[in-house]
Amino acid sequence: MAFPSPAQLRKLESLAKKAAAKAYAPYSQFHVGAAVLTASGELFAGCNVENASYGLSHCAERAAISHSVFAGKKALQLKCVVVYTPTLTATAPCGACRQVIHEFGPDTRVISFCDSEERIDVTISTLLPGAFGRGNLT
Ligand code: THU
Repeated sequence: MAFPSPAQLRKLESLAKKAAAKAYAPYSQFHVGAAVLTASGELFAGCNVENASYGLSHCAERAAISHSVFAGKKALQLKCVVVYTPTLTATAPCGACRQVIHEFGPDTRVISFCDSEERIDVTISTLLPGAFGRGNLT
């Protein structure tokens, strides 16, 4: 896959790891960091933000995407999402995040890494086959 370049991947991993350290996760203690690469080559990060009303908790992937949409000058097109958790198993994005990633790029590469050698490296279409999208609304 052409994206990200090795240098971009190193930077995405570093951003995702730093973002996980900022997670607000007093209920689950599950700290997640995410970083995204946009088609214009920009990088944005996010962490999970929980709430005492558990259902309002916000995942790291969606936080990073919201960050990119807000900062972007053009419509967001995702190239890659990198997720980090300080665990021994790599974490795949939840269903809601899969849908949101798909919205901004059905070919987005999703990479997840952790504190072991385990890695996930797939496209969002693999994680969410037959996705509902804007095409369904026409
Ligand atoms: N979480 C994420 O941030 N990303 C995922 O892909 C899975 C789950 C968060 C939500 C919640 O704050 C905590 O992890 C436990 O579910």
